[in-house]
Amino acid sequence: MSSSSLTNVTVAGGTGSLGVHIVEALLNDGSFTVKVLRRLPKTANEKAELLASKGAEIIYANYNQHDDLVKALKGTDVLISAASPGLATGGYDFDALQTPLLNAAKAAGVRRFIPSEFGTHTDFGDHPLTDSKITFRQKVQESGLEYTFIQSGTFVEYLDWTGFDVKNKTAKFYADVDSKLAVTSMSDAAKYTVESLKLEECRNASIRVAGSMFSLSEIVKKFEEATGSKWKVIVDKEVKHRFENKIEPIPSPQDIFVATLLPKASFDNIDNDKFSFSPRPLADDLAVFVQQKSG
Ligand SMILES: NC(=O)c1ccc[n+]([C@@H]2O[C@H](COP(=O)([O-])OP(=O)(O)OC[C@H]3O[C@@H](n4cnc5c(N)ncnc54)[C@H](OP(=O)(O)O)[C@@H]3O)[C@@H](O)[C@H]2O)c1
Repeated sequence: MSSSSLTNVTVAGGTGSLGVHIVEALLNDGSFTVKVLRRLPKTANEKAELLASKGAEIIYANYNQHDDLVKALKGTDVLISAASPGLATGGYDFDALQTPLLNAAKAAGVRRFIPSEFGTHTDFGDHPLTDSKITFRQKVQESGLEYTFIQSGTFVEYLDWTGFDVKNKTAKFYADVDSKLAVTSMSDAAKYTVESLKLEECRNASIRVAGSMFSLSEIVKKFEEATGSKWKVIVDKEVKHRFENKIEPIPSPQDIFVATLLPKASFDNIDNDKFSFSPRPLADDLAVFVQQKSG
């Protein structure tokens, strides 16, 4: 069946950091009817208001009430989940968050489900976040719905999490400086997600895309060019040992998250050439990132 008839798209978590880009890319494309699924209770949200002003319909459901979710998803061809349990506050359970969405999507006759993946590491479980995404991935594959898994590496906008500190011109890594990092802007990740709906080879497939794949030391050089200054580089590979043995300074859960994921943060093969556009060069994205982080 052609993917071109996937016209009614609902984005759960469409008000989030990534979700907004996905909803905007769908609206910019012009060939989709777009709904943003939000959780009840209704709360004021500037991003929802912006997306509504651009043509998205904002709908609400109680994620804990199956019938409510099914009703909200009736008429949807594709459910894209960009929902997140809140990484910044240690929320990692993507399985618990998305299982009600998958069950309701199936009951509502949704054809395709794109789960909230958008990282690099869904093939490796050794952290609660990746474990929960892998568990959920299996549920999607067993559901009988069409699916696309989008892996897009680290978002440019989250490079500070990875250890690049623009204000202090310092990079602190929990991995070798030769480790490669797949990096993609959220707007390009959104464009790949939207175009996947039109490509037959993305049906029931795991798609890996990357704006760039440079080593950590090459990215430092690019930051040096963008900031016009020499950067200090610190490599700390004892972070997990300190965490496990409670040795000061005790790393934060975020440090452990980065230390676990960073050494596996690139792809052997990518699918960029299946798509019609080229991602923005990393240097262009870093120029914007540096400006934002310097302010
Ligand atoms: N590769 C990377 O570097 C990187 C970085 C960050 C995120 N990600 C991935 O991108 C995806 C989206 O993350 P994000 O940071 O954009 O998400 P986010 O902004 O934290 O949240 C997205 C939306 O999820 C909904 N939400 C929040 N808490 C929820 C809960 N407990 N239950 C149900 N819905 C909830 C909210 O929408 P409503 O309030 O409107 O319902 C929120 O706007 C995730 O898969 C995440 O792992 C990747």
